[in-house]
Amino acid sequence: MERRDFMRLSTAGVVASVVNPTMALANAYKPVKGSSDIYYTKEDAGRWSGKVATHLPSIDIEKVGNVVTVKVVTAHEMKGYEHYIVKHVLLDSKQKFLDEHLFDPTKDSAALSTFTLKDYSGTLYVLSLCNKHDLWLNSAEV
Ligand SMILES: [Fe+2]
Repeated sequence: MERRDFMRLSTAGVVASVVNPTMALANAYKPVKGSSDIYYTKEDAGRWSGKVATHLPSIDIEKVGNVVTVKVVTAHEMKGYEHYIVKHVLLDSKQKFLDEHLFDPTKDSAALSTFTLKDYSGTLYVLSLCNKHDLWLNSAEV
């Protein structure tokens, strides 16, 4: 954007705020419509409906005694920085952060993470982030 265009748009924004402040607030704070605007799921793939198989993380749970091993795989290509899975994030039953695994697309040939938890039961959520196709959520029961 040229500096002149930026100044023109900025001036228009200030004028609009003065003339109609509620309009400026409405534009600044657009409400979130639903989960599909933030993340995608198997049931709600939104604009990425053809991408479920390669973006929805699969979750394998193994429990031995009080130790829970969570293996997460996203069946996605790791094509350098061009197209890859950026990270997996593990969340508890209240969708609070537990752990994450960042991928290095120059070294990792697969989007595979292993997490270990102790004394956990209930729902686990996993997020998988693609650098082109956004954020995907799946869950599993322990
Ligand atoms: Fe992707």
